[in-house]
Amino acid sequence: DAAATEAPSAWLQGPPAPQHRAHASHKGSYGDVAIVGGEGLAARGMGMTGAALLAASAALHSGAGRVMVCLMDDEHPAAASALPELMLRRFDALALAELSVVCGCGGGQAVVPRLPAVLARSARLVLDADALNAVAADAALQSLLTARAAQGLPTVITPHPLEAARLLGTTTAVVQADRLAAARALALRFGCVVVLKGSGTVVAAPDGAASLNPTGNALLATGGTGDVLAGMVGAGLARGLGAMAAARAAVYRHGLAADVWPAGAPLTAGALARRVGG
Ligand code: APR
Ligand code: MG
Repeated sequence: DAAATEAPSAWLQGPPAPQHRAHASHKGSYGDVAIVGGEGLAARGMGMTGAALLAASAALHSGAGRVMVCLMDDEHPAAASALPELMLRRFDALALAELSVVCGCGGGQAVVPRLPAVLARSARLVLDADALNAVAADAALQSLLTARAAQGLPTVITPHPLEAARLLGTTTAVVQADRLAAARALALRFGCVVVLKGSGTVVAAPDGAASLNPTGNALLATGGTGDVLAGMVGAGLARGLGAMAAARAAVYRHGLAADVWPAGAPLTAGALARRVGG
């Protein structure tokens, strides 16, 4: 596959990495990311706030200027303050039209009523996990998603094979049988950049451009690494990369971090999030 021979520089376009910052810059120069997800369900002794916090940590460590987290419960569990750099926000207090929004990570059903506003108003948007399942199940949300392209609003979706199958109305087996075709079909259908995750992640654009990421390995097959990737894409959008460049750079760096992972050390999603900027 020609795509597999692309040089790293082809995957890492755009503004310089966080460690090469202009002296006269400030946190506003690197953009604001808001994570919308993390269903608490504290009353039922359950919860997925970790997914939202992993995405937030990844955005932070990818160099985003400010990272806000909007959890789906009013009673934020103590875990929400695990990262003191994060700003907790109520959904109504998010200025969506000025933000790079990452929506879905651990969002559960609670994310569904927020999606119309997120799709219609977010300046730049990454949709993952439960946000994608909600879109797959609702034609009105699909219309809002496709409308973003006409408005020139950058959007990246990051399905794993089952989420991609739901969006296409097919089976995981069909998606996996031709991953390039599935990613292209999704990009064309929804007018956004698609990151089809898994062994050999495909990044596809609505114009048919598609490539196979050369980095990554099975160390990433552990819970939460997808949330880390979503946060990284959000940080790329926030610092001014276009949807395709942000998706490609994030996918490449995410896989590279796993490829250079120290031998003998366990790869956990939390540890991955802390290393993605390095
Ligand atoms: N080789 C390379 N990369 C891999 C491999 C592999 N063998 N296995 C996994 N990965 C990468 C994927 O490409 C992706 O970037 O790890 C990440 C896994 O992302 P997800 O499949 O979204 O898994 P996770 O983050 O654990 O999320 C699980 O999210 O989508 C919801 O319903 C889902 O509850 C589930 C949760
Ligand atoms: Mg996931």
